[in-house]
Amino acid sequence: MLDKKVVELLNQQVNKEFYSAYLYLDFSNFYYDEGLEGFGNWYKIQAQEERDHAMLFIQYLQNNGEKVTLEAIDKPAVTLESAKAVLAEGLKHEQYVTSLIHNIYDAAYSVKDFRTMQFLDWFVKEQGEEETNAEGLVKKFELFGDDPKSLYMLDNELGARVYSAPSLVL
Ligand SMILES: [Fe+2]
Repeated sequence: MLDKKVVELLNQQVNKEFYSAYLYLDFSNFYYDEGLEGFGNWYKIQAQEERDHAMLFIQYLQNNGEKVTLEAIDKPAVTLESAKAVLAEGLKHEQYVTSLIHNIYDAAYSVKDFRTMQFLDWFVKEQGEEETNAEGLVKKFELFGDDPKSLYMLDNELGARVYSAPSLVL
């Protein structure tokens, strides 16, 4: 049996991960509308990854005999102002998700729940990578976004991203 507070936070995280998927799908749709199909592809795959994260939290709760409660997923709460602004919102969102993961880790740590801490280790690392990727996109857009030829090449680069299943198997 897991600690009640830890279970509550893990359950909330299921919803947060699905929200992330929803948010990134919104980003993806925005970029497709703008004609930036590579960026659209990149965020569509990002949305798939977020769904995978939600499924991992569900699986972890179930592996520990805990009930999963699905709550309503909020409407994406970000105004999509420009191709550049969306990337900054993406970075901000990843930093927020990192704080959520750290918060669950903190709760697990305080009750010596080593099993949950070990499960969360993968997400701690993953969030580091997500922040690096999001920062990289912001920087690249700052450098190349104003030049149509460079933006075309950057869009092509992001269009080459392919989905791969998460490395964490439960
Ligand atoms: Fe995630």
